[in-house]
Amino acid sequence: MSTREAILTGDTPTGQLHLGHYFGSVRRRIELQETHDCYFLLANMHAYTTRSDAPNEIYTDTLEIVRDYLAMGIDPVKAAVVLQSEVPAIAELTFLFAMLLPFNRVMRNPTLKEEIKVKGLGENYSFGFPLYAVGQTADILAFRAHAVPVGEDQVPHIELTREVARRFNKLYCGVDENIEDDDPIMEEKGVFPIPRADVGKVGKLMGTDGVNKMSKSLNNAILITDTPKKVKKKLGQLYTGRQSMTDPGDPDSSLMQYVELFIKDEARAAELKDKYVRGDNIGDGHIKVEVAESISELLAPMQERRAEYEGNDDTIIDIIRDGTARANVKTEETLAMAKEACGLGFFNRSISFGDSK
Ligand code: TRP
Repeated sequence: MSTREAILTGDTPTGQLHLGHYFGSVRRRIELQETHDCYFLLANMHAYTTRSDAPNEIYTDTLEIVRDYLAMGIDPVKAAVVLQSEVPAIAELTFLFAMLLPFNRVMRNPTLKEEIKVKGLGENYSFGFPLYAVGQTADILAFRAHAVPVGEDQVPHIELTREVARRFNKLYCGVDENIEDDDPIMEEKGVFPIPRADVGKVGKLMGTDGVNKMSKSLNNAILITDTPKKVKKKLGQLYTGRQSMTDPGDPDSSLMQYVELFIKDEARAAELKDKYVRGDNIGDGHIKVEVAESISELLAPMQERRAEYEGNDDTIIDIIRDGTARANVKTEETLAMAKEACGLGFFNRSISFGDSK
């Protein structure tokens, strides 16, 4: 067995990934896959919590995420790409963890509340919708992950996960609740390490509307597959509030975040920023064109890699099958440990997860 620490993170299939995913978490994953046991979860069951009427879309969206992973540089040999719906331990742990969390505690999760608002769910969400937050704690703990590379918006979910892990270790393993996360007792006596959120340097990439966080559902995202023409058009629509070339610009605007991130030549980025902030005869349009070109340069090699997998579903499914098999080895071990600890260790079960087709 590997002694390397496990990393778990995931994505809900909602369409294609965008630059917010890349900077928020995927860039970090590409570093981590070299040094850690990485599991990247396709959270397809989570997609059903709000779109259970669209199973075919969820199916294709799931495959598209894998194409984006490969495009951005995730290596399926180094990291396991895992299909959530074929990891039974996650579903079982979700049920168990649901008992460890007060209902009101789950509903207080700010990320859930925000989603209810943004998606206009009102009071008409399924029972399964808030349950996904409990499910996410199981996603992470099933792998006994030590760290979770995520964007800022996911931090409340990691907080909830930490609470579940501590509660389980205390209730069923007698681990004192006051010991530090990294005290060796936590793992010697307890089942679960207390995972930390590993938030990327760019925890929140702004969208091309210039107002909100980049998000597919807000239609302000630059997709990995966007052509140079599309990128240019999207940048053109970015709102800065500036009226003229001599208006002093806001250094914290989305446009300036883009300049810092995408203009590779640091001296050039500093010059653009300086001129913009002072309103020194520099138009938004000019800066946008330069930024758009840099973004397309970043995307070009990704799009080239992605093209290799276009239309080739079998290869993608092989990658998922392999990663999921590796995941089931790890998560079944966790499940056995957890069941033993919480009084469900009646006998060792043996289920084969081979391909039945
Ligand atoms: N909720 C995450 C998102 O919407 C996806 C996700 C599911 C996830 N399970 C996870 C992220 C476990 C980190 C860890 O982006």
